[in-house]
Amino acid sequence: MANPSILILPGDGIGPEVMAEVRKIITWFGDKRDLKFNVSEDLVGGAAYDAHGVPLTDETMAKAQAADAVLLGAVGGPKYDKLDFSVKPERGLLRLRKEMDLFSNLRPAQCFDALADFSSLKKDIVAGLDIMIVRELTSGVYFGEPRGISPDNEGGRVGINTQRYTTEEIRRVARSAFELAKRRGNKVCSMEKANVMESGILWREEVQWVHDNEYPEVELSHMYADAGAMQLVRWPKQFDVIVTDNLFGDLLSDCAAMLTGSLGMLPSASLGAPMANGRPKALYEPVHGSAPDIAGQGKANPIACVLSFAMALRYSFDQGAEADRLEQAVEAVLADGVRTADLMGPEGGTPVSTGAMGDAIVKALDASL
Ligand code: IPM
Ligand code: MG
Repeated sequence: MANPSILILPGDGIGPEVMAEVRKIITWFGDKRDLKFNVSEDLVGGAAYDAHGVPLTDETMAKAQAADAVLLGAVGGPKYDKLDFSVKPERGLLRLRKEMDLFSNLRPAQCFDALADFSSLKKDIVAGLDIMIVRELTSGVYFGEPRGISPDNEGGRVGINTQRYTTEEIRRVARSAFELAKRRGNKVCSMEKANVMESGILWREEVQWVHDNEYPEVELSHMYADAGAMQLVRWPKQFDVIVTDNLFGDLLSDCAAMLTGSLGMLPSASLGAPMANGRPKALYEPVHGSAPDIAGQGKANPIACVLSFAMALRYSFDQGAEADRLEQAVEAVLADGVRTADLMGPEGGTPVSTGAMGDAIVKALDASL
């Protein structure tokens, strides 16, 4: 059988730098674990706009559809702020999510022991934290119609976006949350605003339906999303899996990310329906953005992107043990005190470069053999 294919889309800002470190890791797994991938690379976001005038070409879209997994760095930057909405770098990413139908976005928030002091919350509140946010990624207010800006009747303008969810859209993402919960702490908390939104009432009812009919053995609770945000910072360890819509998931996952100390640590997987070969359509990307302020300086933390590749090993390539190996290598490096600039505590120290962090992870992988 041919080697599985990976399409790398480094994108903008720190994307190319952190992706260069992932390449070292991919090479390591090929050399040392005989896990060989057929890797190709292409442009997305501002980089694609600069080259082609669009944030994602049809050719790149087709390559992404055909790939066994897509790894994306980051998109966007101040240089592109003035562009028309339709060609902004973010539209490239949103097109990938929508056309690949990546409805289930897994955003783990895990607190590494070595970093428990970096959280803005007290250590005992975050130490050992391990939660998974499942964000619906292809519907809701991000894509609902009607949308747009148009003149109103009073000489002003009106901006419109539509929150819209169907039964099937809710049920399929709920199923992926229950499936994950069964392999973790067996608990799902669903978040919406059923107190003010009809789409929230439907969300709550459909998640409950999937629970009652298909996963009665999993513990299910419901929370209004604003209360959920509050509980996330009050006592995050009460949660195992959180399932929520596209917009609430965007907000709550940034909030959960910060609990762990640094946005530079958090990976994500966006999964769709199984392809003909049984693998899910999949795109992996760090939760952090393109960080234009530090781009090109070798300061970025590559760990979120490296851990995104670990998620690819687990969810696309059925290599859970190798994913564990990579995650443990990252943990070992952190336990050794190796730190990029974003992980410098108040006591200071000398940060290592992006490349040195990647090399340290490779060394830890060597040591794991
Ligand atoms: C995210 C980002 C994106 C989103 C942007 C870059 C379009 O914030 O992945 O969380 O809003 O979904
Ligand atoms: Mg976001």
